[in-house]
Amino acid sequence: ASCPLIAPSLLAADFTRLGEEVEAIANAGADWLHLDIMDGHFVPNISFGPSVVKALRPRTSLPFDVHLMIAPVDPYLEAFAQAGADQILIHIEAGPHTHRSLERIRSLGAKPGIVLCPATPPEAIAEVMDMVDVILVMTVNPGFGGQKFLHSQLAKISRLRDMIAQTGRDIRLAVDGGIDTTTAPLATKAGADVLIAGSAVYGKADYAAAINALRAH
Ligand code: DX5
Ligand code: ZN
Repeated sequence: ASCPLIAPSLLAADFTRLGEEVEAIANAGADWLHLDIMDGHFVPNISFGPSVVKALRPRTSLPFDVHLMIAPVDPYLEAFAQAGADQILIHIEAGPHTHRSLERIRSLGAKPGIVLCPATPPEAIAEVMDMVDVILVMTVNPGFGGQKFLHSQLAKISRLRDMIAQTGRDIRLAVDGGIDTTTAPLATKAGADVLIAGSAVYGKADYAAAINALRAH
């Protein structure tokens, strides 16, 4: 995990200039673009929907990492796949039929990912590990950018890194929430290989410097 992928979260971008913000972050060397979808029901905030994802799609070739914080999620999977999501991540807490949702994402031609809230133990995803290409550990309670990194999640990251090794499959382990130059090394040391960051990238004046600072440690 010496050179993690960096996935800036558009949630912290200037919403009056989203197209330019996407192009700027691609030019600054981002690896993925992270798009946070919030429904005001699964999480206590509302962000944007598939029409925004679709409008931004022609602006970059960066992989779109779409983080769905919505429940129920199944009625919206097709819309996000058609909008151009490369990866669709759903929460294990969002409903009882995660297995079916992950199958559906794969059949729609996107890479499936699974997300764990801070209160959810790593073993909760044991039965779906073989179905996903990305596992995302929330290091804040989902809903808002700019929150404080929860150090209690580091042990979960380590445990999931071991569980991934046991599958023998190439699964990305991402962290999301409160990632900055202080917490990024803690997350990568625990086993994360993708760093999602909103304020620590879009909140800075120089995006390339911010991305390099997260990557270099
Ligand atoms: C929180 C979102 C995060 C958020 C991260 O619900 O999933 O992706 O944008 O923002 P920062 O990096 O500012 O904590
Ligand atoms: Zn997110």
